[in-house]
Amino acid sequence: MSSIFQSSIGRKLIMSITGMCLVLFLIFHLSMNFVAAFSGSAYNAVCGFLGTNWYALAGTAVLALGFLLHIIYAFILTVRNRKARGSVRYAVEARNSKVEWSSQNMLVLGIIVLAGLGLHLAHFWYHMMWAELAGNEYEIGATDGTGWLQYYFSQIPVVICYLVWFVALWLHITHGFWSALQTIGANNLVWIDRLQKISAWVAGIIFAGFAVIVIGFALKVFPLFD
Ligand code: HEM
Repeated sequence: MSSIFQSSIGRKLIMSITGMCLVLFLIFHLSMNFVAAFSGSAYNAVCGFLGTNWYALAGTAVLALGFLLHIIYAFILTVRNRKARGSVRYAVEARNSKVEWSSQNMLVLGIIVLAGLGLHLAHFWYHMMWAELAGNEYEIGATDGTGWLQYYFSQIPVVICYLVWFVALWLHITHGFWSALQTIGANNLVWIDRLQKISAWVAGIIFAGFAVIVIGFALKVFPLFD
């Protein structure tokens, strides 16, 4: 039992499985938030529904655990790799151009993703789910998701921070998703090529979807209908 948490492949497996769950969450989160592009009232109904019921709370707890495991193991793996390499990070310093930039910078990208997430939770989760739980009241209501989107995305610095956050997330997922599938077992050359393409598409769609929402609200064209 100790082996899955302590062996190198076990640690990578934990990173991969938690990473894949986080990508699934993002696809769900994007679909839910895309409702706001069309209808403000429908989006608020979704926010109300996903508000403070026990299923939503349990889902959020599992999600938080997934994030924590993913982050903790990322640090453990990086520290171990650096220790194993000693002070010289690369025997040959000239970098292999075939190794993508994002694969060499997963930790830096992960830190930007984490900082963005902190900002995002302070903006939305704190004023919505937490406000309902704690009974806090603001000018914009806890289930008025549309009101909060309009409030934050009318501020240019917030819009820029979110777009930088999404780019980091994009690069992080492009590398992470196919590397996760590879760890889980798909590792012949034909499949590596296919998985890289699938990952690029998944990461691209997630990036474009979230970016469109933020830009649409910044330009005040969303919600399109009501
Ligand atoms: C346009 C982009 C996004 C919008 C409009 C958005 C909107 C929201 C809203 C309204 C909530 C609060 C829901 C509630 O508590 O009732 C929320 C929560 C959350 N968001 Fe986002 N989000 C966006 C992008 C992201 C991204 C890129 C991530 C992850 C990297 C993310 C992760 C989370 C998490 C972890 C929560 C807390 C758990 C939950 O309440 O479901 N969000 N988001």
